[in-house]
Amino acid sequence: MGVTRILTVFGTRPEAIKLFPVIHALEADPRFENLTCVSAQHREMLDQVLSLAGIEPQHDLDLMIAGQTLDALTARALVAIGQVLDAEKPHWVVVQGDTTTAMAAGLAAYYRRIPVCHVEAGLRSGDIHHPWPEEVNRRVIGIFAQLHCAPTQASADALLGENVDPGSVHVTGNTVIDALQWVTRRIEEEPGLASGLAELERRFAGKRIIGLTCHRRENFGEGMRDIATAVKRIASRDDVAVIFPMHMNPQVRAVMEAQLKDLDNVALVEPLDYPNFARLLSISTLLLTDSGGVQEEAPALGKPVLVMRQTTERPEGVEAGTARLVGTNAEAILRETERLLDDPDAYADMARAHNPFGDGKAAQRICDLLATA
Ligand code: UD1
Ligand code: UDP
Repeated sequence: MGVTRILTVFGTRPEAIKLFPVIHALEADPRFENLTCVSAQHREMLDQVLSLAGIEPQHDLDLMIAGQTLDALTARALVAIGQVLDAEKPHWVVVQGDTTTAMAAGLAAYYRRIPVCHVEAGLRSGDIHHPWPEEVNRRVIGIFAQLHCAPTQASADALLGENVDPGSVHVTGNTVIDALQWVTRRIEEEPGLASGLAELERRFAGKRIIGLTCHRRENFGEGMRDIATAVKRIASRDDVAVIFPMHMNPQVRAVMEAQLKDLDNVALVEPLDYPNFARLLSISTLLLTDSGGVQEEAPALGKPVLVMRQTTERPEGVEAGTARLVGTNAEAILRETERLLDDPDAYADMARAHNPFGDGKAAQRICDLLATA
């Protein structure tokens, strides 16, 4: 059998984190030739991961524009990725998750009848407005993908419920656990990689740290203002400190900086690279987030996570008791955070390390599926 030529396409920070283990595995495997194409839908936040993982893309489309719109980005990505497909003629296109880049790359491949492998397939909230537009992006990819790498049995079941060919659906685990294990090993080898928070750790010594991230488009406006109000009230306690690596989306920054920048117990910092974010997860008492990836990483580290969304397509963390959906209502966020801070039994109930999302071997399973597909 000849060598299978793969084109892996991604554009944002979470895709890069969840695909670098797959790229490492493909590149180490003589059954494959891997080419990497980044849309650079994100720029700085993507580059942080590329540099950590040692990935030098063959194609960098450099598409990010400040304050980009969904339609313009989709149109530009579809055309630009199509041109790369015409030039490289891969046997398979690999995409991850539910971003504009993933959807556009999948569609461009489908237009050329190139089979698509979807990593992190089958996540469904059941609500096309939450998360928006990701729920529709991943459903669209699910229609044309020929290899669906579902992280959990529940995500595989969701695909089977949509009448996807059962032979194309496989439970692989989520590659985010591979990535987290990889970065943990790297930090053990080279502790300096995760020393970026040392000054804040000194400043906040003796306080309980709350790690905060938020960026969801459906929370823009009222949702973001409510989250900021809740954080302000939580940070008025003198026994906690909030560390908030702010997403670079200007819509997030405008609200958060206006409300939180002068508070003693809140540190607004630039996006952390993955080792330093892993450090933040490990020093946090609890996480407040609307992120998808953080919902998957926190349970692996036994960190309670309060999810500031109406619904989640990652029910495994909630079912296992490490995650709780709190929405974006300021009172609800405050109430649930204080419960965890003030009730040791409630905290102990949520703070159990387990891995409902994978065992760290997802990337190799995905390679093996691609080799035999
Ligand atoms: C995107 C994804 C979302 C994912 C998130 C991860 C879509 C529709 N959304 O949302 O699914 O959860 O990434 O973070 O695909 N920016 C920078 N530098 C960066 C990154 C972003 O300046 O490195 C700013 C730019 O002004 C950019 C804006 O953020 O226009 C929004 O970026 P975009 O990728 O469109 O949306 P996200 O909200 O980041
Ligand atoms: N992350 C990071 N630095 C940060 C914030 C998050 O490396 O400052 C990582 C985090 O560990 C997770 C991923 O980025 O793996 C989540 O990305 P994001 O929240 O942007 O997107 P989502 O997962 O919601 O799509």
